[in-house]
Formats: sequence, structure tokens, C-alpha cells
Amino acid sequence: MINLVQVHDANQLAETAADHLFSLITTRNRFNLGCATGTTPVSAYKALAKRVRGRALDHVFCFNLDEYVGMSKTDPRSFAAYIQAHVLDPLGISPTHARLWQGDAPDPVAECQAYEAAIRKQGGIDCQILGLGLNGHIAFNEPGTPEDSRSHVIQLTTSTLEQNAMYLAGGAPPTHALTIGIATIMAAREIVILVSGIKKTSALDRLCNGSISSAFPASFLRHHPRVTLIADQAAING
Ligand code: F6R
Repeated sequence: MINLVQVHDANQLAETAADHLFSLITTRNRFNLGCATGTTPVSAYKALAKRVRGRALDHVFCFNLDEYVGMSKTDPRSFAAYIQAHVLDPLGISPTHARLWQGDAPDPVAECQAYEAAIRKQGGIDCQILGLGLNGHIAFNEPGTPEDSRSHVIQLTTSTLEQNAMYLAGGAPPTHALTIGIATIMAAREIVILVSGIKKTSALDRLCNGSISSAFPASFLRHHPRVTLIADQAAING
């Protein structure tokens, strides 16, 4: 079930998401947080860090959604570098409390199996943060990805590469990514999806009202029992 929380603008979206995440994280004594990358959650992480300041988050363990194949954690374009800069450093979470995708793993398929095993070993994801792709992707589950998919290697679509182009300057663009699957996302106990801006209006409408199918992977979220969708007016009304 999707609980839609309507907010005024991107700023209120960040504050609302941070309040929600802060209350989840601080009311448990063990918390596995699935972190999204991308533009939308950046301000939410910043707002969360303000609330967390001075508190030890030793009980929090982080995963990330995806990574470009071939990209090492030291590459500033990598999602691992993003998580370090926007999540781990500001929240004071030690890298030993995170399992991030290893984009340059020698065997990407084995890395997918190892990633799933790490999530299982940690006890599953308590809250998965997501953004919404213009073509309906969640993580890098592009259109056509089945609902029962687990972590896998995927070929990136032109739409997704264009959407992420600003983060990919300074090197050859990747062609493939490692991503948690739709079933991996759906196994999270709670999902928080953040949608902001006029560019997302049509995708948001399909997420909430379109047919549920792999043609628009985010539509599968309507099968999940606990989804909080925080969307601003620009995304809702265009
Ligand atoms: C990020 C990810 C993507 C983004 C989506 C929205 O880890 O997997 O699914 O969440 O592309 O990105 P933004 O927030 O940049 O619009």
C-alpha cells in the first residue's frame, strides 16, 4: 500500500523525509538502511545529518542500491563515493557499517550473489530509500525487469544514462550496472520513495495510477504493504 505524503516543495520534501527516517532510525536498536543515490535524496541526507548531529549511529548498517560495472569505490563518479560523501561521512557511520557494491569486482555475477548474501546475513533491509527514474526504474531495474528479480547485472538504457550524465563526466560512460532486484526491494520491511520536480509528473502518475507491470517497474511498489511516497507539488501537479 502506498501512503502518499504531499509536501510543498523540494525543501519540505527533504525535511519531511529526514523527520521520518530519523524517527525510524532512532526508535530501533538495530537498523539496516538501504540508501539511494541520485539528486533527490541529497538534501534529505543533509537534513537527516542535522538531526543526527552528536548522536552515535553504531546500530545503523547501510547498503546501497546499485553501482556502475567496472567503477571502483575510489572513482569519484561511483555511487560508493556518493554514499561515503552524502551518507556515511555526514551521519558519522563507519565504513565497517556499510556494504556497498563493488563495481570493479572481477566477477559481477558473483558480486550480485555476494550482495544478496550480505543483506540476508545482516537480517534484511529495514527501510529502503528510493528515487524514481523517468522511465519508471527503481534502483537500476530498467523497464522489462521482472518483479521476482534479485540482484543482477543490467544494461543501462539511453534514458537512464542521459538522466545521470551530469555525474558521469570525466571518463568513459558505463554501459552496465549492478543493481539490487525488484524482489530485493520488495523484501525491505518499509520503503520510502522521494519524488520531486515537474520532470517527474508523468512518472509519478504512472507509479500511482498506471497498470502494474514490468513496463514500468516502479508500479510494482503498489504490491508492497508499507510504502511512504513523499512527493512535492511540482511532481504532483506538473
Ligand atoms: C539511484 C538509483 C536511481 C535513482 C533514480 C532517480 O541509486 O538507483 O534509481 O533513484 O534514477 O534519480 P534522481 O533522484 O537523480 O532523479
